[in-house]
Amino acid sequence: PAPGWTATTDVIVVGSGVAGLTAALRARAAVGRVMVVTKAMLDDGSTRWAQGGIAAALGEGDTPEQHLADTLVAGAGVCDEDAVRVLVTEGPDAVRRLIATGAAFDTAVDGEILLTREGGHHRRRIAHAGGDATGAEISRALVAAVRSDPAIEVVEHALVLDLLTDADGHAAGITLHVMGEGQRDGVGAILARAVVLATGGMGQVFSATTNPAVSTGDGVALALRAGAEVADLEFVQFHPTVLWLGPDAHGQQPLVSEAVRGEGAHLVDADGVRFMVGQHELAELAPRDIVAKGIMRRMRETGAAHMYLDGRHFGAEMWEQRFPTILASCRSHGIDPVTELIPVAPAAHHASGGVRTDLRGRTTVPGLYACGEVACTGVHGANRLASNSLLEGLVFAERITADLAARQAAGDLPERTPAASGTRAVPLPAPEARAEVQRLMTAGAGVLRSAASMRAAADGLAALAAQARDHLAEEKPADPRVETWEAANLHLVATALVGAAALREETRGCHWREDFPDRDDLRWRRHLTTTLDAATG
Ligand code: SIN
Repeated sequence: PAPGWTATTDVIVVGSGVAGLTAALRARAAVGRVMVVTKAMLDDGSTRWAQGGIAAALGEGDTPEQHLADTLVAGAGVCDEDAVRVLVTEGPDAVRRLIATGAAFDTAVDGEILLTREGGHHRRRIAHAGGDATGAEISRALVAAVRSDPAIEVVEHALVLDLLTDADGHAAGITLHVMGEGQRDGVGAILARAVVLATGGMGQVFSATTNPAVSTGDGVALALRAGAEVADLEFVQFHPTVLWLGPDAHGQQPLVSEAVRGEGAHLVDADGVRFMVGQHELAELAPRDIVAKGIMRRMRETGAAHMYLDGRHFGAEMWEQRFPTILASCRSHGIDPVTELIPVAPAAHHASGGVRTDLRGRTTVPGLYACGEVACTGVHGANRLASNSLLEGLVFAERITADLAARQAAGDLPERTPAASGTRAVPLPAPEARAEVQRLMTAGAGVLRSAASMRAAADGLAALAAQARDHLAEEKPADPRVETWEAANLHLVATALVGAAALREETRGCHWREDFPDRDDLRWRRHLTTTLDAATG
């Protein structure tokens, strides 16, 4: 549809997690007027759900080199070392700037930041806030800073639809659907000199995920439709310890942070056996893919639907002080971790891949930037190291705004005129397609995949696409509303994901193929990139 209203700014930031809000604050200082567009409320993204913390070489004796080494090992041979080096060397100062913006991390009496451990880290390196409410504190501080800056305009309840480009193919703005009242309601357009995507992940592609309902891959879908390259979509990380709420649990599930294992909790099976011991030198603190696989294998061997986390030895005081969020969430589901084992199983958690960027956050479409979970900067490789994602959002958002400032100074950030207005005519599936996409992806492209399981998922997705096309041709299209746009985005990213996962005929990091159980460095020690044409045939 043609936009019903138009607004203009200098920089549009789409998304309001750690990456988006950091980009907005810094772009406002470096470039000028900023508009933040977010699908729900400012604090509704994944950032506020982050528990464990943010990794950075802040502790005595720790160095960026050691953080680099742990990140490369977790990434299973396909991290971009240059990008990781940027992350770990710029990370500590980026965290200090976050603190200066107002985020209060947990400290000892002498003021030193307290650090914990998580999987794959050989030392205590994870800064946390409120015990296990790190994301909530970061979100609180950044939202407050953005809200108090009059040069940043916030548009909430606004789903981004498509990128607008000028005659040279440079980003010139976005179209969006605002579910509000008043001046900016319905489909509109915002024109700008640059667009920063920070829309977060796509966990809702699967039935059970730690991601909130808003994580529907909107940024990757937009980028694909805009002709940008995406990479590493097959590397979906499944968090090993998500509270198990029964076989039919659906949607966002409660996380039980790796930091619980970092502080000494054990993984056990129904007989109390610590099955990770002997599987890896770090046992329960092995990189996340190894622990998730260890749990899945034990579930298969024993026929159990879940394993257990045992933190009873912490005692009530430690649970209350160190893990108040997790304690409350377990108790609200009738489990008391002080006296009981916590049932856990893996669930979809983080997209290591996304919209391909360079070290300045530039995508392959000029003027379109990406940072945070929506981006593939190359730092995560085949398996993200725990607590590197908040850091990635922070560091690369700052890099993007440094690039915007440099372009502004060089006169390379002029106003843009869109070559065409309006959104592409995407056949929209019915909103119920969301549950079908989730069912297909969970069965066919979840933790354990094979050519046959992914063929079944791809066939099901193709049938949904054919249905939507038929409805469009019969002039009975689904209503263009948020639920249908989201279903279209989920469908597109699921199609691209399953296509990439089927191509990668090996097991590497969090991509686990039943039919190709080994790592194949000769053929596959590389990124797999996807475009819209490749994804949709
Ligand atoms: C956790 O707290 O276990 C999540 C940390 C992360 O995903 O990096």
